[in-house]
Amino acid sequence: MTASSDDGNAPQDPARRDFLGTVTAAVATAGAVAACWPFISSMNPSTDVLAEANTEVDLSGIAAGQMQTVAWQGKPIFILHRTPDEITAMAASNGGKDPQPDGQRVKNPQWLVVIALCTHMGCIPNKNSEGWLCPCHGSVYDNSGRILSGPAPRNLDIPPYTFATADKIVIGKS
Ligand code: FES
Repeated sequence: MTASSDDGNAPQDPARRDFLGTVTAAVATAGAVAACWPFISSMNPSTDVLAEANTEVDLSGIAAGQMQTVAWQGKPIFILHRTPDEITAMAASNGGKDPQPDGQRVKNPQWLVVIALCTHMGCIPNKNSEGWLCPCHGSVYDNSGRILSGPAPRNLDIPPYTFATADKIVIGKS
């Protein structure tokens, strides 16, 4: 008969002990991060510093029909290289519930630059061939970032930006 059962004093399986130690450490770390978040957050750059932060984007690697997402001041920015067909279609329409000519939303018709936050409650819309669809409540935007349908009240916002060269924009500078 084998000596069995745990009498409370028997050494535990080392692998199990290591696993429990790892889990405990992970939970402790998560708790520490959560507890420290207000403190960590307070260490972020001040609003003044953020307001001065610019993001430079090289456009040369974004092919027609492609979109790139970059970060600017903690916000996602969509940069869409529009095709000739998309440019023509957007110029022929004023959008939907927040009418605006496409020409007022771009500095160069090939390039649409918008803040990638749905104007309803701030979700990040998903790109499709017609524009964007917000996954949260179904707002639909066209390839000018104009709201067509759904609960979003207005078009996607446009950040300040400027063309430093034909192939480079600086977001945050107008
Ligand atoms: S957050 Fe986009 S539709 Fe509600």
